[in-house]
Amino acid sequence: MMSDKEDIVEILCYPDDLLRRKAPPVREISDSIVRRAEAMLEAMYESEGVGLAAPQIGWNARVFVIDAEQDRSGNRIWFNPNIVSFEGSEESDEGCLSLPGIRGSVERPARIKVSAYDAEGRKREMDLEGLFARAWQHETDHLDGILFIDHLSPISRLRIRSQLKTLEREAKKSGRTGMKPAR
Ligand code: NI
Repeated sequence: MMSDKEDIVEILCYPDDLLRRKAPPVREISDSIVRRAEAMLEAMYESEGVGLAAPQIGWNARVFVIDAEQDRSGNRIWFNPNIVSFEGSEESDEGCLSLPGIRGSVERPARIKVSAYDAEGRKREMDLEGLFARAWQHETDHLDGILFIDHLSPISRLRIRSQLKTLEREAKKSGRTGMKPAR
């Protein structure tokens, strides 16, 4: 099924440097870009994630995929997403496919107004809440090189410290670059 070379998707793990770049916008929503995003969606489902952002597969572009229960948009692929406004505050557990086995509680705005282009290239505006709003913010962070662990309280961060060290050691062993210490 995955015939195209560019459709082969590998999810990068912390502390890979490629997760820390600020991604530029997509200029044109071409067929090949949509195909690549579809491969990302496939990889997300295979890993049983709720969302996946392009930088997580080493693709430096403002693209992410989300499949949240609250999502009534009929679309799973989002290009050049924006958070237009936000309100409220909510704390909830998060995980990330680039930080396997690690979870932590993150406080984020509870309701957000967003805009983005869908897989057909149409501009969409939506009011999000719940898991969809949380996933949107988590994935938008990825496009700016931010990981959910950056939002943890000092105590929560202390709790996952040894797990982060393990991921850092594993990366070093496998010869992967990107050995910047956790922020
Ligand atoms: Ni993530």
